[in-house]
Amino acid sequence: MTASPKTRKRVLSGMRPTGKLHLGNYVGALQNWVGMQDQYECYFCVVDWHALTTDYADTSRVKENSLEVAFDWLAAGLDPEKSVLFLQSHVPAHAELHLLLSMITPLGWLERVPTYKEQRENIKDKDLGTYGFLGYPVLQAADILVYKADCVPVGEDQVAHVELTREIARRFNSFYGGTNAVFPEPQTLVTLAAKLPGTDGRKMSKSYGNTIMLADPEPVVRQKLKTMVTDPARVRRSDPGNPDVCPVGDLHKIFSSKETMAKVYEGCRSAGIGCIECKSWAADALVQLLNPMQERRKKFEENPRLAWDILEAGSERARQVTGETMKRVRDAMGMSLEYEAPAQAKVKV
Ligand code: TRP
Ligand code: SF4
Repeated sequence: MTASPKTRKRVLSGMRPTGKLHLGNYVGALQNWVGMQDQYECYFCVVDWHALTTDYADTSRVKENSLEVAFDWLAAGLDPEKSVLFLQSHVPAHAELHLLLSMITPLGWLERVPTYKEQRENIKDKDLGTYGFLGYPVLQAADILVYKADCVPVGEDQVAHVELTREIARRFNSFYGGTNAVFPEPQTLVTLAAKLPGTDGRKMSKSYGNTIMLADPEPVVRQKLKTMVTDPARVRRSDPGNPDVCPVGDLHKIFSSKETMAKVYEGCRSAGIGCIECKSWAADALVQLLNPMQERRKKFEENPRLAWDILEAGSERARQVTGETMKRVRDAMGMSLEYEAPAQAKVKV
């Protein structure tokens, strides 16, 4: 049942425009978002400006990748009738609030963000010594606060960013809020995703080239499963295996029914089934999940304009909502757009 708009809490989350999404993106975020739509007033943002914090040198694919993400969102069941789906760069208030928040955010807070240190150390093929990259979490804080979001569903890797958002909100309120806070402190809703292995057994990730895409047709899914790594102890068909140490076993745990799971445990441990058969069951489960998505996707692939129009309409709605917040922000800072006579003039009248 849909809760009434007044009582519904507001949710904001964002995803980078990485292009086509894979199963890891689905179980790590998208599936959860789809499930939140009736209970919350949801805003889901393709954070294309965030993509520039690392990929600023070549922006030629940002727009195309944003549209691809929108296809997958709609295919997976995000519903523009229920949620606001939009593009960050079409809502200038994100940038305006980012600027204002940047004024009050101490550098030390940003330098301490764990993802900042990690990525500076790990990513060597591009220069991340930029102002924009350091300020990335401030932009994220602006994304969240400009909607006065109550809740932010994110993966564990993003928890520190939402914590920082709360600190920035608190600081803003203490400077400019007076007796009533401008920004609520958003709550983190951590998405506890089961570990989703890619075809090589490592965590599924675009950069490892081990993904199963939401848009992969059935033959591709089946082929990828065939070459997927298994429990290394099962060398021969007659060797018993253990689904708990097998990446295919992990897929079953996430996507297969209890009955199939039981057959997998029994058959694998007793060498009663072969890996080929076991993998075909896992493929069945994936195909069953992906089929309806791909059915929904067709409409948008044939007519991409439909997805673009949805993002446009969502961005328009987002501009309205954020316009209200920015008015409140300007008022709080004594910088409203209204004319006010200078203090001196007031005295003379
Ligand atoms: N930083 C997030 C990520 O890399 C994406 C993001 C940007 C986001 N703005 C956000 C997530 C606001 C939640 C809320 O996954
Ligand atoms: Fe993995 Fe299934 Fe083979 Fe067991 S039977 S090792 S769970 S693929």
